[in-house]
Amino acid sequence: MLTQIMLTEIELELKNQVSRLDKPQTKNYFEMLTYHLGWSGEGAGPAAGGKRIRPLLVLLTLAAAGDSGTWKSGLPAAAAVELIHNFSLVHDDIQDHSPKRRGRNTVWVNWGIPQAINAGDGLFILSNLAMLDLHKVFPAETVMRAADTLQNTCLDLTRGQYLDMSYEKRVDLGMEDYWPMVTGKTAALLSGCCALGAILASADEHVVDAYRSFGHYLGLAFQVQDDILGIWGNEAMTGKSTASDLVEGKKSLPVLAGLEKKGNFAERWKKGPILQEEVEEIARELAAEGIYSYANDIAIQLTDLALNNLKAADPAGEAGIELMNLTNQLTGRNS
Ligand code: IPE
Ligand code: IPE
Ligand code: MG
Ligand code: MG
Repeated sequence: MLTQIMLTEIELELKNQVSRLDKPQTKNYFEMLTYHLGWSGEGAGPAAGGKRIRPLLVLLTLAAAGDSGTWKSGLPAAAAVELIHNFSLVHDDIQDHSPKRRGRNTVWVNWGIPQAINAGDGLFILSNLAMLDLHKVFPAETVMRAADTLQNTCLDLTRGQYLDMSYEKRVDLGMEDYWPMVTGKTAALLSGCCALGAILASADEHVVDAYRSFGHYLGLAFQVQDDILGIWGNEAMTGKSTASDLVEGKKSLPVLAGLEKKGNFAERWKKGPILQEEVEEIARELAAEGIYSYANDIAIQLTDLALNNLKAADPAGEAGIELMNLTNQLTGRNS
């Protein structure tokens, strides 16, 4: 299967890009990165590296929008988006006080917050260097446009993270405040991945736009699903704590929808921070108020919007089919 072949190549390219930091004297720094990417330390293995959906989106889009045989030329961009994603996760776990990621201790738990910030910075810079490697195959103009797209995507991601954190203590927010936050923190990167693939395929502008919109709605659906798993997910499957979104006061979609219901959940929320021991009962209450099925319906509607935009992009061949399959799988995912 094309996806499997791509996943193998992505891993090799990531290792190649990260090897820039494999230097004597700073072996432990390099190890923080290889640990986070799932290659070293206790519990290393494919599950510890995550799903790698962002680099897959770059390569599948490149193959579906252009000459299907040339997707390997996009490997540096595929590695770059996964490095950006992982930089954002290392910092996000500090920001969210999350002790677990992909079933293992987070980097800050093992090495402390100051070094985890540095490891995140390293991943960010490695991503920028990976993008420059595109010049070995692509004309300078294409590399500039691709790099510009990814940098602006990162700005949007940090704006989304700003909103996410600034919402934690606020009690005056509604559903309309949710979309700008998740558009930035999650959809921007998925959208950027699809745009990148189409740009590298030299697709027409309207095709680049259709892929960008596809990634945007896929990203929104993906974050709604992440929010659902953040309350009703199985920790053994997600590898993350199911209590932390509620305890941290995150304005996830189920929480904002529950607040708008003005029922028992909203009453409890107004009284102050949720305690760890209340989480199970509150998750049950939210589901009883219809919020679990409401959130699932929204994820399905967003997936349909993603698929409509994908169809408008007219993706070709096996890669096109795999983009559709990936989109459908992500809504029903449990990890
Ligand atoms: C987690 O993303 C962070 C979000 C944007 C929801 P993923 O679920 O893609 O994380 P990994 O890389 O597969 O662990
Ligand atoms: C995901 O944030 C977005 C980024 C990391 C930029 P979340 O905080 O919602 O994701 P998880 O649940 O920790 O993976
Ligand atoms: Mg988090
Ligand atoms: Mg977060």
